[in-house]
Amino acid sequence: MYVCSCFGITEQQVRQHAETGACTPRQIAGACKAGTDCGSCVRKIQALLGRGACPRREALDPVVLTTAAATAAASVPAPTAAEAA
Ligand code: FES
Repeated sequence: MYVCSCFGITEQQVRQHAETGACTPRQIAGACKAGTDCGSCVRKIQALLGRGACPRREALDPVVLTTAAATAAASVPAPTAAEAA
């Protein structure tokens, strides 16, 4: 089934690009131009990527979440003695 009718890109082609490392609509566009004309297919591409078309995304998510949580915790200053009292 076609995802991008402007460039004749199928769901299967998007999945293949995702498997080889294109994990965002921008990266898919870089690989096959899908989404770079009228843009009406970008949400469909996002949905495909979000449904596990990109195996690397699931592999990276725990790292990204852990890193973001550690960064947020480190940026919060500890209360001073005066503030704690
Ligand atoms: S349908 Fe994909 S750019 Fe138009």
